[in-house]
Amino acid sequence: MKDVDLFLKKLHYFDKKFKLIINQHNNHLKVEYLELCELIDNYSSFITNRDNEKHWNHLQQSIEIKALIENLRNNSSICIQIVEKYRALVLGLENEEITDYFRNIEDCIVKEFGDFHINSQSKILMVGSGAFPLTLLMVAERTGAEVFGIDIDDEAVRLGRHVVNILGRHLSIQIDKKTVGELTVIKQISHIIFSSTVSNKYAILDQLYDVTNKDVLIAMRYGNGLKSLFNYPMQKVDETRWHIVGEIIHPQSVFDVMLYQKIQSHI
Ligand SMILES: C[S@@+](CC[C@H](N)C(=O)[O-])C[C@H]1O[C@@H](n2cnc3c(N)ncnc32)[C@H](O)[C@@H]1O
Repeated sequence: MKDVDLFLKKLHYFDKKFKLIINQHNNHLKVEYLELCELIDNYSSFITNRDNEKHWNHLQQSIEIKALIENLRNNSSICIQIVEKYRALVLGLENEEITDYFRNIEDCIVKEFGDFHINSQSKILMVGSGAFPLTLLMVAERTGAEVFGIDIDDEAVRLGRHVVNILGRHLSIQIDKKTVGELTVIKQISHIIFSSTVSNKYAILDQLYDVTNKDVLIAMRYGNGLKSLFNYPMQKVDETRWHIVGEIIHPQSVFDVMLYQKIQSHI
C-alpha cells in the first residue's frame, strides 16, 4: 500500500472513532474517557507529524475527501469539548494525569502574544473559553491581568466556573454565556484570544471592529494544511479594518496563532 493510501486509511480510522464517541455521548452511553484521551493524543501527534505533511500535500482533494476533512475537523472539536467536560467533572476527584494534548496547548499559551506582552493592567477576553478554561487560568496566573471568558455552551460555562472556583479562586476570572456585543467591558479589553475550534471566529472578528478600542490586539488561533484537520483555518480579513501584526508558528503544536490589530484611520 502506498504511503498516501495508508495516510487516508488513518484518516478514516480517526473519523470512525470520533463518530463512535460522539454517538455514545449523545445517547448517554458510557464513554471510555481514558481511551478518548489516548485517541486525542494520537490525533495530536498525527497532526504534528512532519511525514504526514507530505502525505497531506499528495492527497487528491475530491468531494469525498473534502467531506471527510470537514467531518474530522468538526468531530475532533466536539470530542475536545467532551474531554474538557470530563476533565472538569473529575477535577479534585481523581489523580488525573495531564494528557499530551493539554500539555501541547499549555506550550502554545505561553507564547500566545509573541512580543506583545500582557501585564497586570491588561484586560483579556477569550472567545470559546471551554469547560476546562486552561488559557484563562494560565494567563491570569502568569500576568495578574483581569481575564474574561465567553462560551455559547451553558454546560461549558457552568463547568468552566466550577474549575475556576477550584483552581483559580485567587484570580480575576469571569466566565459568561454572552456574545462579544453583550459584554459591558468590551471597550476596555486590551487582548482577545480566539479558540481555534470556534467555527465562526472570523465573523466574530468582523463584529469586534465596531465595539472594541483602537489598540485591541487579537490572537487568532487557527490551523492550515494538515492542522486544518483539527482547527478552523485562517481566512482573509477585510484589509481596510484589520491587519496582521505578527504570526506565531508552533511546528510542534496543534495550532498556530495570527495576530491582528485595527488599521488606524487618520481622519
Ligand atoms: C473546547 S474549547 C477548546 C479550546 C481550545 N483550547 C482551542 O483553542 O480550540 C472551545 C469552546 O468554544 C466554544 N464555542 C464554539 N463556538 C463559539 C462561539 N461562537 N462563541 C463562543 N464560544 C464558542 C465551545 O462551546 C467550546 O466550549
